[in-house]
Amino acid sequence: MDFTEFLYGGDYNPEQWLGEPEILEKDIEMMKKAHVNTVTLGVFSWSFLEPEEGRYEFDWLEKIVNRLYENGISTILATPSGARPHWLADKYPEVLRVNEKREKMIFGGRHNHCFTSPVYREKTAAIDAALAGRFDANPAVRLWHVSNEYGGDCHCPRCQEAFRAFLKEKYGTIDALNKAWNSAFWSHIYDSFDQVESPSSLGEESIMGLVLDWKRFVTYETRDFMRNEIRALRDAGAVKPCTINMMQHFKDLDYRKFAADLDIISWDNYPSWLETTPADEGFRAGMQHDMMRSMKKAPFLMMESTPSMTNWQDVSRIMKPGMLFMQSFQAVAHGSESVFYFQWRASLGGDEKFHGAVVDHTGSDQTRVFREASEVGSGLEEIKELAGTQVVSRTAVIYDMENEWAIAASRGPRNQGMHYEETVLKSYKALRSMGLNVDVLDEDASLDGYKLVSAPMLYMLKEGFADKIRAFVQNGGIFISTYHTGLADENDKCFAGTVPNGLTDVFGIERTEIDALNDWEENKVSSLTSDLPGRYTCTELCELVRTCGAEVLAVYGSDFYKGMPVLTRNRFGKGWAYYLAANVDDEFYYDLFDKITRTVGGIRKIKLPAGLSVMTRTGADADYLIFQNFTGEETYLPVDYNKLDVVYGGASPLTPYGAMVLRVPFSRPKKGGFPNLS
Ligand code: GAL
Ligand code: ZN
Repeated sequence: MDFTEFLYGGDYNPEQWLGEPEILEKDIEMMKKAHVNTVTLGVFSWSFLEPEEGRYEFDWLEKIVNRLYENGISTILATPSGARPHWLADKYPEVLRVNEKREKMIFGGRHNHCFTSPVYREKTAAIDAALAGRFDANPAVRLWHVSNEYGGDCHCPRCQEAFRAFLKEKYGTIDALNKAWNSAFWSHIYDSFDQVESPSSLGEESIMGLVLDWKRFVTYETRDFMRNEIRALRDAGAVKPCTINMMQHFKDLDYRKFAADLDIISWDNYPSWLETTPADEGFRAGMQHDMMRSMKKAPFLMMESTPSMTNWQDVSRIMKPGMLFMQSFQAVAHGSESVFYFQWRASLGGDEKFHGAVVDHTGSDQTRVFREASEVGSGLEEIKELAGTQVVSRTAVIYDMENEWAIAASRGPRNQGMHYEETVLKSYKALRSMGLNVDVLDEDASLDGYKLVSAPMLYMLKEGFADKIRAFVQNGGIFISTYHTGLADENDKCFAGTVPNGLTDVFGIERTEIDALNDWEENKVSSLTSDLPGRYTCTELCELVRTCGAEVLAVYGSDFYKGMPVLTRNRFGKGWAYYLAANVDDEFYYDLFDKITRTVGGIRKIKLPAGLSVMTRTGADADYLIFQNFTGEETYLPVDYNKLDVVYGGASPLTPYGAMVLRVPFSRPKKGGFPNLS
């Protein structure tokens, strides 16, 4: 998709007010006031679109789409498969799910459907095709929003059959499956594919290969369902781009497998800004944005966010003044081409009546939330020239979903919490704190073009990835690994022999044991280099390694492994491979990455005060630096912006949660490939 302006708006469910046409008119007036240019319609409208089997009623929707468009507001049109009408479930109970305890669900809620059911596929394809026929050519429609937040699994007999077929295709023979899954353990050998059942708390959960392959199957089957929807749209002649809205920190699907079928990635962003600190949550949300962008290495859309509060977090805190702006500009800073809300107008009843909306139950524009949302809208217009620019990264972290599954499914070494995502976040934070753009990749990604890659806890080392690491370091890359790396293959079967498997020469170390600490325990880290001057601690996991070529830069400070390596560095080819044997604190990561990046050419870093962030977006003839204050205090910019073009903002210190956007033309002198700001 090409973007010449930022898309601004959100989910709108006007079918709830069809009997009160004046509401639509009032909404349009208010949307214009808030600078809204796009809304998402039809996400949960199936009962209105097909009130009886085969009888489609699209006139009401078309009227709304056209009326909005006459007022400068485009539509993202959803397919309605996220929630189905009563008649459909009543007539075809097979569309409803069976849960892992083999209990058949009854009608209710949403997303409660079997992805394998031929009837559900047929009915969704039919309405999707009808919608495409009627709406794709309408100039008001920009994009297809396929279904809503695909997720969950179904254990019905049809899904079991489909799972068995998936396994047969993958393994060919039952012997091959038994071998891959190591099912000789506890005598769990399968005699035939017919004996295979999806994992269940009532049955088999102790075969890791089964657990992993089930998750892979759920991803495969969900994607197949999605493809069935997209095919229906395309076969009916639709040419507009397609997306699905992905969820934050969602671990049930391997989203990256969906990317190839989508024209643009989009996702729903709901940070808990006040659970810790906005600065801290900013890193968590930032990493999600970057993961979404990295899937296609292209601009994406923030499809949902709340303009004030959710109703599903443990505690529903409203955002302090300025935070909505911060949340919205953060999305754009990381590569989003949109700021969309769930939702424009709050429903008066039902599950989400207390969820935040731009227009609350008063129906008025005289609210704090409305005012702040309007400011976001005008802010996006001010930075219009950034639309369509790219985020280019020279550094990356690896966060692999199948690895996440394998770590979570294994018993030991620390059932209280291995904290894989949090561990990746430590590297991410350290890099982002120096103002670097960071891509978030998985093991399928290419490492070409990166200067530095950090891949913590790469427990499951998939076929081919060790070779990529080897080649990357050989050719001059800097690679950082940690404890719990290179232990198991794709089926969670441990490698026989020394580990990290296939990489001991790259890192110059071999792992011998791993110690798991209780929550209240810690060890100290003693640095052997002046580059790591702090007093550091490590917690949770302490691995014991012996060196076979690496230089030791830090050692444990206590316990019987006092003096053994915590940090090592190894020269391999033209690059460097670092190995971090323990779960060290954030300070250690900051100092380590600061030290490492001093030697890396071609990346620009910047000294940022705590809570200040900068992202770079690159256009045709300039870089744009988006500085953001993630604190409630005024914060000074660390660069002399008077010499640069100011696109947005214009005063340092930045106001609480405020931003400044600077334009740095390519013609400015560069240092290491990046503009010299000093
Ligand atoms: C999303 C969902 C929306 C709405 C929102 C509330 O996950 O797609 O329909 O429920 O959450 O925060
Ligand atoms: Zn099913």
